[in-house]
Amino acid sequence: MLNNQLNNWRKSLEKRKQEGTLRVLRPQTQEIDFYSNDYLGLAGNRSFQNRLLGKISENPRLLTGSTGSRLISGHSIIVSETEDYIAKEHQFPCALLFSSGYNANLSLFSTLLNRHDTLIMDEQIHRSVHDGCRLSNAKKIKFKHNDLQDLEDILKRQKGGCYVAIETLYSMDGDIAPIEEIVQITEKYNANLIVDEAHAFGVFGYGMIEKFRLHDKVMAVVVTYGKALGTHGAAILCNKTIRSYLINFASPFIYTTSSHDFLWMSIKEGYEFLKQNHQLAMDLQENIKIFRKQNLRYASSEKSPIQAILIPENNRLRNLKEILFENGMLTYAVFSPTVKTGTERLRICLHSFNTAQEIVKLTQIIEEFNDKNE
Ligand SMILES: Cc1ncc(COP(=O)(O)O)c(C=O)c1O
Repeated sequence: MLNNQLNNWRKSLEKRKQEGTLRVLRPQTQEIDFYSNDYLGLAGNRSFQNRLLGKISENPRLLTGSTGSRLISGHSIIVSETEDYIAKEHQFPCALLFSSGYNANLSLFSTLLNRHDTLIMDEQIHRSVHDGCRLSNAKKIKFKHNDLQDLEDILKRQKGGCYVAIETLYSMDGDIAPIEEIVQITEKYNANLIVDEAHAFGVFGYGMIEKFRLHDKVMAVVVTYGKALGTHGAAILCNKTIRSYLINFASPFIYTTSSHDFLWMSIKEGYEFLKQNHQLAMDLQENIKIFRKQNLRYASSEKSPIQAILIPENNRLRNLKEILFENGMLTYAVFSPTVKTGTERLRICLHSFNTAQEIVKLTQIIEEFNDKNE
């Protein structure tokens, strides 16, 4: 039996290899970073690191384990204070911390929804939302990416409890959701809106919900800290009842050891650091402007740190990625079938720390490549 299984698994892996889609783990290297989510460079920021080091030397206990789940021995004063702090910063009644955005979404969707509910999600929503929905046994319907008409058409046909899940800044194409219009539609059909701000948080202040003052229009918001904040973890922003319901019924929250206090402390320090270093988000926007001035074929929104450049055909895309790598630049290629054939794209993540020369060189290489391969 085991041999049979192993053979099946080998075949699946072989198939991926032949298609050129086999996933392998590669160690980080020192090339120029045009691929990470460290949009503001906080993960490598010496001054932020020194601030955290100071906290650790004052209290080395931050580094060691939390000793248990949040509901038993793991609910430290620091995690509790950090949640209060986050709720206040975002002007939400409550916040609940998780060790990752994946776990936050898994908890939220698997717990709030049940098999009588319907979750209508943007077709490009993050995998964690699909997985949470699957655990909840709710019915899943996808609407066309950022398509208001399609969302409304689907909502019109629903009877009973309905939820809508979107992101504000999408990571594949770097485009932004029409959040104000989506809120109008979900209000009209009395659907519960849940918003994932993983990529928007830190890049656009505290995110789009804050920017457009939509706090009262959403059921819950997820912010994550492994991207622009340069640390790790996530928070669900919600009301008191939802927080208590999650604490009582969310398996991914209940049945796991809480993270060490260092994580919670670094999240709080990250907020403070962001507040004192607005320049970083401005530097990022300046770099996005420099990039956009080069007039490549973009699929992304103008102010997005994620810029997707259409390079149709997997082989062409693979070649370009290799050429960039040979020139010391790390980018991420999105091949078909992950995206539709003909819409294969090079995903470039811009950062506050990229230099103008690096950005211009990157775009020149892409342009030369396109001229040669058109
Ligand atoms: C939109 C979105 N939501 C959630 C997550 C998961 O967050 P984390 O990496 O903290 O688990 C990601 C990360 O890739 C994401 O892009």
